[in-house]
Amino acid sequence: MYRLLFSLVLRHLDPERIHHLTVRALALLSVLPVVRKLLHRALAPRDPALRVSAFGVHFPSPFGLAAGFDKDAACAEALSALGFGHVEVGTVTAHAQPGNPRPRLFRVIGERAVINRMGFNNAGAVAAARRLRRTRGVPAIVGVNIGKTKVVPESEAADDYVTSAKELAPLADYLVVNVSSPNTPGLRNLQAVELLRPLLAAVKQVADSTPRRTPLLVKIAPDLADDDIDAVADLALELGLDGIIATNTTIKHSGETGGLSGRPLKARSVEVLRRLRGRVGDRLTLVSVGGVENVDDVWERLLAGATLVQGYTGMIYGGPLWAHTLHRDLSRRLKRHGVKSVTEVIGRTAA
Ligand SMILES: Cc1cc2nc3c(=O)[nH]c(=O)nc-3n(C[C@H](O)[C@H](O)[C@H](O)COP(=O)(O)O)c2cc1C
Repeated sequence: MYRLLFSLVLRHLDPERIHHLTVRALALLSVLPVVRKLLHRALAPRDPALRVSAFGVHFPSPFGLAAGFDKDAACAEALSALGFGHVEVGTVTAHAQPGNPRPRLFRVIGERAVINRMGFNNAGAVAAARRLRRTRGVPAIVGVNIGKTKVVPESEAADDYVTSAKELAPLADYLVVNVSSPNTPGLRNLQAVELLRPLLAAVKQVADSTPRRTPLLVKIAPDLADDDIDAVADLALELGLDGIIATNTTIKHSGETGGLSGRPLKARSVEVLRRLRGRVGDRLTLVSVGGVENVDDVWERLLAGATLVQGYTGMIYGGPLWAHTLHRDLSRRLKRHGVKSVTEVIGRTAA
């Protein structure tokens, strides 16, 4: 049904326009408790075998929505009701900013991919905090992903992240420092360990000071050299971070300027996951993202050592029931293998 709608209608419309309409519809759903609850009952993962715990948070399933879809925390409850086991909102920056000029979102339909150069368009940390303070009508695990405000120079980056962290860490189930988006000039330089150490240390102090101690993760790019991946992994261990999210979009492609996501990112994303697992074992929670389309992809990443898996582009091509279908298939896969809990699968094929 969605496939038909996509090929007859949606593919001919501006992708960003569809995105905004979808977010608006979901935001409306988020404030209609009855519909939201009904949807949640029908679509949210309920199989106890899917439950996983990571950094002290209990997730109903390992699969969630990656950052970038709900940049302003406008519709996290509705997305949970659609079946995502967690929703990572953001990237949120300390100050509101418009992002790059349009067009800035492009489908690459033949490759089931997307290129974006959105540039952290968002209403800022205070606005996101206001939305996150609303009571959640359905159980929703909401991570908050923070990034650098574009006009803030690199030398003041740590303060800028700290401003966002102070606002958002108390409201987040986990916090993510995003230093890997390709569309904010210079942002990815912050992945260099000498810049990353003071930045992460400063944000961690804020995350540690919330009443529940907010778990802290860092999100990395797929384009890092292997040695740099190791260096970030070592740093995450040294600073006592809770996990690493790998990966963001790649700039290694020949299309429009921007980051490429979806199917072409799959192989590198898995490669980075394996490298991280080899380096840190189970001492950090690994969250795998990049090119996840179906249950085979989720299964592969769990086996390779990811506790949580995320996706975004897959929903553009898979439609609103994507997460629900994926969880149904994962439940069936577990049964077929005679596995009582998804946690038994994690890291099974890791070195
Ligand atoms: C349109 C779009 C916007 C994105 N915005 C963000 C963002 O604001 N922050 C972030 O950390 N990742 C962002 N991402 C990256 C995704 O979270 C994810 O890491 C990447 O797309 C790879 O996963 P996928 O292949 O399942 O899409 C964005 C991706 C897309 C397609």
